[in-house]
Amino acid sequence: MKLKSHINQIIQDAFTKADISHEAMSVSEATKPEFGDYQFNGAMALAKKLGKNPRVIATEILNHLDFTGALSKGEIAGPGFINLWLNPLWLASECQVASLDERLNIVKKETPIKAVIDYSGPNMAKQMHVGHLRSTIIGDTLANLLHFLGDDVIRQNHIGDWGTQFGMLIAYLEEQNEDGSVSLKDLEKFYKEAKGRFDEDATFADKAREYVVKIQSGDTHCLNLWQKFIDISLGHCEEVYEKLDVKLTRDDVRAESFYNAQLPKVVETLQNRGFLEESNGAKCVFLEGDEIPVIVQKGDGGYLYATTDLAALEFRANTLEAKRICYVVDARQAGHFKQVFTVAKNAEFVASDVSLEHIAFGTMMDKGGKPFKTRDGGTIKLINLLDEAVIKAKESINNKDDYSESELADLAKTIGIGAVKYADLSINRESNYIFNWDKMLSFEGNTSLYLQYAYARIQSIFRRFDGKIEGKILINDALEHRLSVMLLRFEDILNRAAVDASPNQLTTYLYELATLFMRFYEQNPILKEGVDEETKMSRLQLANLTAKTIKQGLEILGIKVVNKL
Ligand code: ARG
Repeated sequence: MKLKSHINQIIQDAFTKADISHEAMSVSEATKPEFGDYQFNGAMALAKKLGKNPRVIATEILNHLDFTGALSKGEIAGPGFINLWLNPLWLASECQVASLDERLNIVKKETPIKAVIDYSGPNMAKQMHVGHLRSTIIGDTLANLLHFLGDDVIRQNHIGDWGTQFGMLIAYLEEQNEDGSVSLKDLEKFYKEAKGRFDEDATFADKAREYVVKIQSGDTHCLNLWQKFIDISLGHCEEVYEKLDVKLTRDDVRAESFYNAQLPKVVETLQNRGFLEESNGAKCVFLEGDEIPVIVQKGDGGYLYATTDLAALEFRANTLEAKRICYVVDARQAGHFKQVFTVAKNAEFVASDVSLEHIAFGTMMDKGGKPFKTRDGGTIKLINLLDEAVIKAKESINNKDDYSESELADLAKTIGIGAVKYADLSINRESNYIFNWDKMLSFEGNTSLYLQYAYARIQSIFRRFDGKIEGKILINDALEHRLSVMLLRFEDILNRAAVDASPNQLTTYLYELATLFMRFYEQNPILKEGVDEETKMSRLQLANLTAKTIKQGLEILGIKVVNKL
């Protein structure tokens, strides 16, 4: 149910009936329950434009409002606000419709678009780090969300698999006399050792340089070594994806090297269209207001990160036919994307109607507010971090005896991984994020455990009830009223979160919903003796719709629910 649009339409109809022409304006959620459910504040701006008294305008709208459907009451407040109340009967019947529908009465977009979500993007020469963790979690959620709303989502893992350092790495791999899976277990260490060899041994360094040229010119032996290196390295990332339960697969990998063949053409096109200038031997695009140019080719002929991204943009817009392209990448790359997007649009690599978005996120910090590192300053191994989450989650389960060993393992995984994901998704993505085990694994506050607990609690009601739900939803008191409005807002929230690419709008909503449900449940018992049958059936259905909404919301966040906790 697109609740807001529905109310906006009723207001629009009142405008038409009152013969007032105006630009589209939207209601907003009321800030306090005594102001009703929604508020229309457009009369003020309109009055100013028409040179009339806002209360007069508000009265005119109010007089023409239809109170036979969604709305039951309207009141003018202050200088000309219109407070609006939704009709309990209408709320009840809409909740009923939602609860009977698999998609909670959320219709897929009428005009879906192709959307590319570029996320994760680890570098094959290095260990995947916490920045990639954030990208993976946020990107996967965004992809799930757009997919749920009906868009045609194309996940793209733009892994860094090309560059001069690979000469050194494959030369070192060749020296190892084994298939590589052992020495590549710890990429960080492998890189350091290779670098050590490179710096100390001139013969090795020469070979490394020779191998760079050889991979670039397609030498089979070197390409095979390179391919082996990438396979093992990517395998490490896939272990992380598997543990994280994200949907990225090998089919989603379109690595930097994929665009190699297009790079000369990118430069040529820029040249032909008059965008290139030479500076210190390098080919650059200078942008107005930017001191630092976009370098697309170095003096020695080498291409850069930006050149590949221009080729990727061209491919995504023209071959994949994407109309929305989202880059879920660390905020520190904001300058890069701003420039690349501008060049791509100016030079018409991408049509003007394609939306290019850098979905930026902040840095992951430790409790002390420092960037997340190991004690000796190294990168935290993500796989260890995720394993630790599962161990800690297991510790936090009180009634361990209620589960079998394998149930306990599953539960710990669901809770632990859910907590890591939710903690990341529930903050404003652009802020830096403080990683805190205790907070994320708490049953209280805005956490995944709180939501999983609320869900499990509703399931336990149904286990005890163990009957057939019949009858209608009835909205009989203020809490039921608020709960039903909250439930019907779900689609609006999802749409907003999709437009803004901000998962935390969804987490905030789910938290508010669960909190409201807990209050409702405290005051409005369901299975308690003395509750009449009609009321019981109605409350059961509200509980059921709440559970379904939480489950669906968590599913979009890539988090599972549990039936028992
Ligand atoms: N590999 C890059 C990094 O680790 C992220 C890639 C992001 N995607 C892109 N198309 N540039 O910083």
